[in-house]
Amino acid sequence: MKDSAPILSQRSSAVEWSGIRIMFALAEQLSDMINLGIGQPDFDTPEFIIEAAKQALDQGYTRYPPAKGFMDLREAIARKLSAQNKMQVDPDTELFVAVGAMQGVFNTILHLIDPGDEVLVVDPGYDYYSQIRLFGGIPKPVPALEENGFKIDPDDIKKAITPKTKLIILNSPSNPTGAVFDREILEAISSIVIKNGIHVLSDESYEDIIFDRKEHVSFGSLEGTKDLTVSIYTFSKTYAMTGWRVGYVTANKTIIDEMEKLMEHMVSGVTAVAQRAALAALTGPQDCVKQMLEKYEKRRRIIHDGLNRIEGVSCLLPEATFYAFPNISKFRKSSWELSKYLLKEHRIAVVPGSIFGNQGEGYLRISFAAPSQVLVEGISRLEQGLNAMRHQ
Ligand SMILES: Cc1ncc(COP(=O)(O)O)c(C=O)c1O
Repeated sequence: MKDSAPILSQRSSAVEWSGIRIMFALAEQLSDMINLGIGQPDFDTPEFIIEAAKQALDQGYTRYPPAKGFMDLREAIARKLSAQNKMQVDPDTELFVAVGAMQGVFNTILHLIDPGDEVLVVDPGYDYYSQIRLFGGIPKPVPALEENGFKIDPDDIKKAITPKTKLIILNSPSNPTGAVFDREILEAISSIVIKNGIHVLSDESYEDIIFDRKEHVSFGSLEGTKDLTVSIYTFSKTYAMTGWRVGYVTANKTIIDEMEKLMEHMVSGVTAVAQRAALAALTGPQDCVKQMLEKYEKRRRIIHDGLNRIEGVSCLLPEATFYAFPNISKFRKSSWELSKYLLKEHRIAVVPGSIFGNQGEGYLRISFAAPSQVLVEGISRLEQGLNAMRHQ
């Protein structure tokens, strides 16, 4: 046997472990932790959704589902997209129910990207680098700086485009910065992509967690963009359903057909009972969404005010999501070093900003998907930790 032959393919072994996982593995070894690194709602899935799932099991939803999702779920999604996102989609040919937003992202890149293709990503922004690299794509970061409210300047997109640019990934509202890209920015980007025939992946996972009645604009609703846009949504954040693993994608028929074709070879559909729960979520009373939003709103104030009270820290008010992205550059330590120190010495877990791109260096991502008293304790530990560091 050749003992030097690598077991894993180059493609697979080139992908790195997620930085967030590494931080959490460290955190798990310690007791008395306050974890503000978490990227999921702390709420339980609303009771009526759980009840619908129980009933679905009794009704026999235990067999293979259609590869692109149950038709009644796709119809309910199409109605929601029309009413909420101002997009008219054919539930039969333009919709795909996915294993969370994550599968939507993975498949979009799988179907659109060939080796050598360039993909523009927002920096700091959600980590799409691994999926892009897995398929031989080249991620090209475009800055979204704090001085612009962490919003992209469309001129920077124009400058970053080359003949190899195949896709732009947008994520508004943004994880990790909580920024919402305004209509004018998205319209300016739409003119650029239409002119250049570039596709856009619009990851709108946080579309419902928006404060102060700020407008969420779905990129695919802008004139002339429908055919170029792959829009991705999820039940995970809106309905506190991260564990159910249901999301959906709308795109043109060619892309949706491809997703359906590959789904057969991958996982043969999204778990039937989880799809029934998702249908109940969409068609049931929506006050649960409003109630969770009201709680996030209160927590946002606690975190924002608390962070800005700490000497040397400054933090913009997040417009959306349950993340704050404070600037910690005055401490002259890398965000990894600072996060590790806070974890080990002060039992508080946060996520280093550099995980979200080079422009994320000098920041931390702090989740406020936690009860108020936990946030207050978290801020107090952060303050102690950072004060102690200042006096070292
Ligand atoms: C921006 C963004 N996209 C996609 C996902 C994945 O969501 P899902 O649970 O639907 O796969 C997340 C999860 O944190 C996210 O923050």
